[in-house]
Amino acid sequence: MSANSKLHFTTPGLTEADASRVVELLQDRLNACNDLHLTLKHVHWNVVGPHFIAVHEMIDPQVEAVRGFADDLAERIATLGGSPQGTPGALVAARSWDEYSIGRASTQEHLGALDLVYRGVITSYREGIKELDELDLVTQDMFIAQTEQLELFHWFVRAHLEDKGGRLATEGADSERQAADQAG
Ligand SMILES: [Fe+2]
Repeated sequence: MSANSKLHFTTPGLTEADASRVVELLQDRLNACNDLHLTLKHVHWNVVGPHFIAVHEMIDPQVEAVRGFADDLAERIATLGGSPQGTPGALVAARSWDEYSIGRASTQEHLGALDLVYRGVITSYREGIKELDELDLVTQDMFIAQTEQLELFHWFVRAHLEDKGGRLATEGADSERQAADQAG
């Protein structure tokens, strides 16, 4: 923990040790949301093909919502006495996942890759929700509300990848490239 991350106060009723861990969980979600809203804009700009306008326009409300999540997470860190790290270098240094790997590509390829992106983000949110059960129910409530929205957006993405039998084109894919190829 850096000198800058020492908590000199926190919200009443929370121990400093618990608050420090909650701040770490919030920072990890802040990194995830900052990464996700930038990645979604990158997709918004790089999709091509006959379904361009539908997917291009579907993405922007997701960008706006995820930017709002980042703001709420960062302000919760400050509320708990911490210092939110919002610069790009700090995000890249701290993240445990790879950069989004698809450039200009068809709408289906990007949606296939986004299925994997959302799978990763939502899985980590749910891990955070479990851990917060013992730490801070107020922060847990924020994670739960954000997860509900992310799961809805994930369904918007998946509805483009689903056949009438209910199977996803990305089934079994474990990389963005593989998911994009299966969906494309
Ligand atoms: Fe735009």
